[in-house]
Amino acid sequence: MEYPKDVIESVLVTNEEIQSKLDELCARINKDYDGKELLVVCILKGAVCVFADVLRRITIPCNIDFMVVSSYGSSSTSSGVVRILKDLDHGIEGKNVLIVEDIVDSGKSMSYLMANLRTRHPASVKLLTLLDKPDRRQVELKADYYGFIIPDEFVVGYGLDYAEQYRNLPDVCVLSPKVYAEN
Ligand code: IMP
Ligand code: MG
Repeated sequence: MEYPKDVIESVLVTNEEIQSKLDELCARINKDYDGKELLVVCILKGAVCVFADVLRRITIPCNIDFMVVSSYGSSSTSSGVVRILKDLDHGIEGKNVLIVEDIVDSGKSMSYLMANLRTRHPASVKLLTLLDKPDRRQVELKADYYGFIIPDEFVVGYGLDYAEQYRNLPDVCVLSPKVYAEN
């Protein structure tokens, strides 16, 4: 898709590339969890698009649930302390939990959240992230399933926001520096 140049500098991952990557990842997931039941957890709001696209590719029995988390600190640096603004509706004891996240940056949010969920005695906790910025990692964290390794650039679209905007763009895009300059 074509975007206005003053807003979007470039398209980093197209929706088409995302869809074919999710075919691949979800084929692996369906195989890895064969004979089991899955609880697929969407981390709102950023993961909304990838979650919906993953869910429609899951062929094994599954339930879904949602969490809203927010990390303390400024928007550009993650403190590692995650505030759970909305917790899961049900307990996860004995369940196979697959977390679906938009992007892993410092890794602090997901490492905190996965440790928190593990205290609830699930059968397993795994992480799928669409995007991974390993250059920015501050704690050791490896996603079990990841879509794309991306460079240290701030991206928007396909659920990801800048100041709550641009989540509706179908592709993952690099925001124009002009947009930051205005704020
Ligand atoms: P971290 O891994 O704890 O540093 O934080 C990851 C969270 O920061 C993600 O869930 C996003 O909400 C946000 N984030 C990190 N990088 C970006 C980006 O490039 N665009 C939009 N949000 C981002
Ligand atoms: Mg997020």
